[in-house]
Amino acid sequence: MTSQPRDILVTSALPYANAPLHLGHMLEQVQTDIWVRFQKSRGHHCLYVCADDAHGTAIMLSAEQAGRSPEDHIDTVREDHLRDSTGFLIAFDNYYSTHSEENRHWSGEIFSRLEAGGHIGLREIVQAFDPEKGLFLADRFIKGTCPRCKTPDQYGDNCEACGATYSPSDLIDPVSALSGATPEDRASTHLFFHLAHFQDLLTAWTQGEHLQPAIRNKLREWIDAGLQDWDISRDAPYFGFEIPGHPGKYFYVWLDAPIGYIASSQDYCRREGEDFDRWWQPGHSTELYHFIGKDIVNFHGLFWPAMLQAAGLRLPTAIYAHGFLTVDGTKMSKSRGTFIRASTYLEHLDPEYLRYYFAAKLGSGVDDFDLNLSDFIQRVNSDLVGKVVNIASRCAGFLRKKFDNQMSADCAEPELVQQFIAAGEGIADLYEAREFSRAMREIIALADRANQYVDDRKPWVMAKEEGREQEVQAVCSVGINLFRALATYLKPVLPAMVGRAEIFLNINLDWQQLQQPLLGHTLQDFKPLLQRVDPAQVEAMVEAGKS
Ligand code: MSP
Ligand code: ZN
Repeated sequence: MTSQPRDILVTSALPYANAPLHLGHMLEQVQTDIWVRFQKSRGHHCLYVCADDAHGTAIMLSAEQAGRSPEDHIDTVREDHLRDSTGFLIAFDNYYSTHSEENRHWSGEIFSRLEAGGHIGLREIVQAFDPEKGLFLADRFIKGTCPRCKTPDQYGDNCEACGATYSPSDLIDPVSALSGATPEDRASTHLFFHLAHFQDLLTAWTQGEHLQPAIRNKLREWIDAGLQDWDISRDAPYFGFEIPGHPGKYFYVWLDAPIGYIASSQDYCRREGEDFDRWWQPGHSTELYHFIGKDIVNFHGLFWPAMLQAAGLRLPTAIYAHGFLTVDGTKMSKSRGTFIRASTYLEHLDPEYLRYYFAAKLGSGVDDFDLNLSDFIQRVNSDLVGKVVNIASRCAGFLRKKFDNQMSADCAEPELVQQFIAAGEGIADLYEAREFSRAMREIIALADRANQYVDDRKPWVMAKEEGREQEVQAVCSVGINLFRALATYLKPVLPAMVGRAEIFLNINLDWQQLQQPLLGHTLQDFKPLLQRVDPAQVEAMVEAGKS
């Protein structure tokens, strides 16, 4: 059974505070949340922290566009994000902001340690500058005509029409996408983090058991190609933290973003009166996991371990990357209505449908994830409504009508029930390894067996025959015991549905209490646990996504 309780700190990547959450974000948060709920239900001390990533030029500009101060803007967006995540039953222990005092403190502190260690250098660089806006322009804010195929209005360093890649300064007639002004070249001094100082550390660390094989290989390629200095400063005006000792220079958003994990856990520990140091100081038995998308593995797998090491802090136990969400086989698209916001989904559909569908198809790898809408409807209706809920609903009816919700005092099929209980350890191993799809397959195979058992015994036939009441009660009680095991195993994925099942079963479900069958136990009246997915609702959601 469960071994020693572990202390586990888990994070999801911090969403940018300039746009609403979409279903891609939810894939990540649901994956993390299932893993966290699983750890908690095994009796471990597990904390799930996240935050909004509130800094940077894009957020400054989106605040301007919304006619708000950056501070007001990030507060509003954070509220929206938290509301959507909560709608998907994401149970953060803390949801903070990178624009916090803790984060300012730790960013300054970590930077000072890097600087004291001789890992920071100054260098002058020349960049495009928008004279009208008074801003240095990142590549994506410069547009112009492709130097190869002459297609106008190409952004940044690549052409959508012919696929050419180039430096934005090669664009013909480049203009600032913000003001339309012609950018000027301007020099300024930037601060650089000498990542190459950590070549040995990163070579060893990426070799260890901290990364998925595909990510390890990718990072190894980067390390072998030679680690470049990382530009960690931006010039004013910039929404972020000014760099201590370097007036007018601000931390690049990606410097303080992962430090937001530290800040969020510190805020949690202060509020809950927990020891904060054992999560981030080295030498403790605590574990640290970052769930992220595959697009940001360089930040988490190279820069972040190097920063932590240089600052004398602990390194992550593991980084778990996932692939990108596609809808019906293609990148989410606004015109097809498949760029689905979290809030749009929630207006039309039950969050647990999608939590189950994600679980049913998620493995531990980094493959992209396709939300196929017709498969989604079919899977949820057939597995959850047709198989899992069906066991409870068909057995509950007989027990209520004929036995006043009372289960048998003896177990008629101790072996079968025991097999369902024993399956729990294998399913737990799959959850631990983030092999959710395999866990779901095992659970649904058990549901098939449970339905088969009830089909074979035919309580509806017995119920019409004289003197077989006891048998009806015995069979239905076995069915309820089988359902109880399945509900326990599904609880990390379907907390609300299983919450309703707990009311019906009149018992709390978790791995620890599942050792003995329920005998002579009284149930509550059965209420529907889950509605079927209505295809019209899915269609309505897609329509709403188009507007
Ligand atoms: N702010 C940074 C993360 C900082 S972490 C210290 C960021 N924000 S994001 O809003 O763009 O993305 C947040 C997370 O959502 C990332 O892990 C990203 O990979 C993930 N996803 C964004 N779009 C996604 C899909 N379409 N599919 C799956 N995950 C995606 O990156
Ligand atoms: Zn071109």
